[in-house]
Amino acid sequence: MSAIELVKGVFWVGVNDRTTELFESVWPLPQGVSYNSYLIVDEKVALIDTVKGPFALELVENIEEIIEPAKLDYLIVNHMEPDHSGALPLLRRLAPRARILGTEKAGGLVRALYHLEGGFEPVRDGQRLSLGRWSLIFYETPFVHWPETMMTYLTEEKILFSGDAFGGFGALDGGIFDDQLDLSRYEPEILRYFSNIVGMYTNPVQRAIQKLKALEIEMIAPAHGPVWRKEPERVVGLYDRWSRMEGEPGVVLIYGSMYGETELMAEQVARGVIAGGAPLRVLDASRTHLSFLLAEAWRYRGLILGAPTYDGGIFIPMEQFLRLAQRKRLQRRVVGLFGSFGWSGGAVKAMKSVIEELGWELVEPVVEFNGRPTREELEQGLALGRALAERVRKALE
Ligand SMILES: Cc1cc2nc3c(=O)[nH]c(=O)nc-3n(C[C@H](O)[C@H](O)[C@H](O)COP(=O)(O)O)c2cc1C
Ligand SMILES: [Fe+2]
Ligand SMILES: [Fe+2]
Repeated sequence: MSAIELVKGVFWVGVNDRTTELFESVWPLPQGVSYNSYLIVDEKVALIDTVKGPFALELVENIEEIIEPAKLDYLIVNHMEPDHSGALPLLRRLAPRARILGTEKAGGLVRALYHLEGGFEPVRDGQRLSLGRWSLIFYETPFVHWPETMMTYLTEEKILFSGDAFGGFGALDGGIFDDQLDLSRYEPEILRYFSNIVGMYTNPVQRAIQKLKALEIEMIAPAHGPVWRKEPERVVGLYDRWSRMEGEPGVVLIYGSMYGETELMAEQVARGVIAGGAPLRVLDASRTHLSFLLAEAWRYRGLILGAPTYDGGIFIPMEQFLRLAQRKRLQRRVVGLFGSFGWSGGAVKAMKSVIEELGWELVEPVVEFNGRPTREELEQGLALGRALAERVRKALE
């Protein structure tokens, strides 16, 4: 894709990445991702963020549609993660007199990652930079997503270049604006991005949202995913809600099963949830990438986990999910547990102790059974699903 105008003199010059399989070599990208870079052409010319290294030439060609890259005065780095800073070394060569602007901490990363010496100028929180007709203000927003992150605000046009915040996975299909895209397809990918990439930093997200509350914002231009010009408040609302971790009134049931015993129970528990009147999503931990499990757990208040005992502990895909949830600091879940064992058991007990550590609320009955569940045990499973659905509905009333 080539350059697209946001408003007169401000352009999206980013790229779609439809070939990288794993973002950060961890997170699958079934719908791709975009690295959004923005060019502001005033008396001075500024580029806000770049793209991942292998896409640098494409970025340069997009810039060339508008101006000679040598005319760049400022390379502004909101965030130094290489998905945005990867083209800095090439741009420095093409625009040797351009100043690189970022927070003090960004300066350290410019040196550490690219061995670029000179040309960097730190900016302070709240600092204003005149480009001629327009001016920019920089706002430090540490840990959304790295310690050096900031946002850049174009005052007269009221555009917030927000970096990773308010971004999501999903390449931009034909258009870049919220009013051109099918948002129902993007929203789950924004949630998966939020929960897996930014999730650990919910407090910094809340602080950033509070800090920017007073700003008049007409457009949010994040570093990934749609540009929000019709409803910027929509994506702020999503990030606000997700970072408060309240969860929607629904349940995700995540289970793993080697030979079908735990799965039999999962079906009953699922029926109980529906009988209890809560929306439900059932996911097999073995066949669903962890990032999707975490996203759905982040979406709903209710979480039911079913896993057999494996080598005295939790069935491995479930253990990995719990570890991820722990690492990403998911909180405030209302949880149900069940699982099969062969001899001495251990999975349910171990899951229980993780849940206590996480401060999640456990809902009874906990349903642990030897081998295949009996008719009575299946009845308990039904009761568990129902109890969880009712608890979730009450929690959010
Ligand atoms: C590789 C493997 C390791 C197991 N380790 C244990 C164990 O340490 N303790 C135990 O009580 N059962 C253990 N079991 C038995 C399973 O927990 C039991 O067969 C259970 O019913 C399997 O449920 P599923 O069909 O939902 O996978 C193990 C089974 C397998 C296949
Ligand atoms: Fe990042
Ligand atoms: Fe990013």
